[in-house]
Amino acid sequence: MPQLAILTLPNKKLRQKSKEIEKKEIPKLGPLILNMTETMTAADGVGLAAPQIGQNIRLIVINKEVAGTKDGLALINSKIIKHSWRHIKDSEGCLSIPDVVKEIARYKKITVKALDKMGRPLNFSASDLLARVIQHEIDHLDGILIVDK
Ligand code: CO
Repeated sequence: MPQLAILTLPNKKLRQKSKEIEKKEIPKLGPLILNMTETMTAADGVGLAAPQIGQNIRLIVINKEVAGTKDGLALINSKIIKHSWRHIKDSEGCLSIPDVVKEIARYKKITVKALDKMGRPLNFSASDLLARVIQHEIDHLDGILIVDK
């Protein structure tokens, strides 16, 4: 499958608030999810958000090693519904901002509500690297980038 172009700053799509995905749209997302996953893997990324490939919809994909699943993880309309008081600082990069690495404080642990690629509800806790990647990717859906932090 052809890979997608990853947008970089100052592309305006990276700065828009992305739209919730309607339930009836979810069955059509399969090819996009596959394509985003391949694009992320080819770019050596640990996560990718739809606005980074020019679609302002609330879809993110997470690398399989970080997610601890066979095919990675696709999250639709994900929301952080609970988080730890504790933050952890670590260095972070972003495929949309080449050559920038920044120390960012993120919640150590989060509880996430989302839909999976079949439209089924998910509710799970994540900590450390997985929590960091999800927080980074959800920021993308709100037009927030590591250079803002
Ligand atoms: Co990023």
